Amino acid sequence: MKTYHDFKQNKEVPFYKEKFNSIQTNLQFMLKKQNIRNFMITSANMSEGKSFASANIAEVFAEKGNKTLLIDADFHRPSLRKYMQVSENVGTIDYLMGDLALEDVCQDTYHPNLKLMPTGIAPPNPSEWVDSVEMKQLIETAKQSFDYVIIDAPPLLPITDSRILSSLCDGVLFVAFAKKTKRNEIKQAMRYLEIADANVIGGILNGVAVSKNDRKGYRYKY
Ligand SMILES: Nc1ncnc2c1ncn2[C@@H]1O[C@H](COP(=O)(O)OP(=O)(O)OP(=O)(O)O)[C@@H](O)[C@H]1O
Ligand SMILES: [Mg+2]
Repeated sequence: MKTYHDFKQNKEVPFYKEKFNSIQTNLQFMLKKQNIRNFMITSANMSEGKSFASANIAEVFAEKGNKTLLIDADFHRPSLRKYMQVSENVGTIDYLMGDLALEDVCQDTYHPNLKLMPTGIAPPNPSEWVDSVEMKQLIETAKQSFDYVIIDAPPLLPITDSRILSSLCDGVLFVAFAKKTKRNEIKQAMRYLEIADANVIGGILNGVAVSKNDRKGYRYKY
């Protein structure tokens, strides 16, 4: 797996930077319009670019001077700690279990405005922790200390976590992968979000072929 660091090291950086700057700008307008500061990122299936998008979007929010918290809530396939090269694996689950306070589970990253809450070591029943009063409290408490609280969530179709999480978050950003995510999968995922009364604030189309050298672009729509 290419890490976030790999992308930052190579010459594709300006390309991705420009894409995510544009996505963040649209997103920020949308969030301001709705007066919300928290959203989660999900998709229909695994490996559609949720974590990559979460890390990059959170970074742009931070670079623009916002105190930003990125929460890894994908207990089944946690990846942000690796992406962002944070060594400490104390995070979301430790807070939910009541073991640690918010400031103890927010890890420093390469940007002073950006903190990461890794998943922590997931228990055998992680879904039960997503569907909890503590999870709702975590989002509310985090909003008091940060300008933006962004959550990297699991995919919607294989497990129920994100359906629950979507009803706890102020907004949902949906990622689909061009030519990979099927139309009926998007429809089913959207149906789940509708049933959960989720507030879908936008969609990102990942993997859009933009040039011969096979860089995969992003597009934001709402
Ligand atoms: N636009 C892109 N260009 C190049 N590589 C990408 C792009 N989007 C995602 N990737 C790569 O594809 C892989 C899967 O991406 P990512 O981990 O973000 O997906 P995910 O939806 O979070 O997956 P999971 O379901 O495992 O959580 C990663 O190695 C990531 O670096
Ligand atoms: Mg992921």
